[in-house]
Amino acid sequence: MGRGAKMTIESETEDRLIAAARSAARDAYAPYSDYRVGAALLFDDGSIVTGSNVENASYGLALCAETVAVARAFGEGRRGGLRAVAVVGPMDKGDGLPITPCGRCRQVLNELAQLGGTDPLVLCVGNDEVRRVALSELLPHAFGPAHLG
Ligand code: THU
Repeated sequence: MGRGAKMTIESETEDRLIAAARSAARDAYAPYSDYRVGAALLFDDGSIVTGSNVENASYGLALCAETVAVARAFGEGRRGGLRAVAVVGPMDKGDGLPITPCGRCRQVLNELAQLGGTDPLVLCVGNDEVRRVALSELLPHAFGPAHLG
């Protein structure tokens, strides 16, 4: 599916994706912020690739969960097929509102999405609410690989 029409996924698949992101958050290395994030990427073959944030003693070098998941997907040879993304923050920290990927992660996700010509659904998971947005809504007019020809 291309950009413009919002992708939807079945509720069981959504549950599976969110559970994978929640489970990934447990593997976060976040000793400095203690803010553990998990991300899960759903591909069109039904497979899921996860990531969690990896912080560093040099604070500014922290890697977000979404970026780690995308790097893992590229490392497995994936170059597209991204249907949906779930991002889950800690239940017991912050305001409990759905967390959205940071600006850098939106761009990183866009690379994988644009390569396969998809506009993935992003499930931003909060304590009491799941916010569903298209990546193109989070990053409109995105710069991507197509611009380079
Ligand atoms: N973080 C993520 O992993 N993903 C997001 O979408 C927001 C922020 C991480 C970065 C850092 O390790 C911690 O959360 C606090 O910002």
